[in-house]
Amino acid sequence: MMRATIDAARCQGHGRCAMLAPDVFDIDDDGWGTVLVDPVPATAEPDVREAVLNCPESAIALLQGPIRSAGGAWMSTGNPKSE
Ligand code: F3S
Repeated sequence: MMRATIDAARCQGHGRCAMLAPDVFDIDDDGWGTVLVDPVPATAEPDVREAVLNCPESAIALLQGPIRSAGGAWMSTGNPKSE
């Protein structure tokens, strides 16, 4: 299982993630990258890997493994800049 996160501290809103993997990433109302689906569908994994390689800020991280049930940073997919 692949999981994707965007580091809000690094994201500068370049939007390449949403262009390359639109089923997984989007741009929120404030212009920052956000994760739409978690975990990443297997069919979208190639696009997500491409997005990782093309983010100018290296803001996208890929994680492998199960979803943590509570208290894990993996559960956060929002961008604090938009709050
Ligand atoms: Fe942000 Fe990188 Fe996407 S800067 S909007 S995560 S391409």
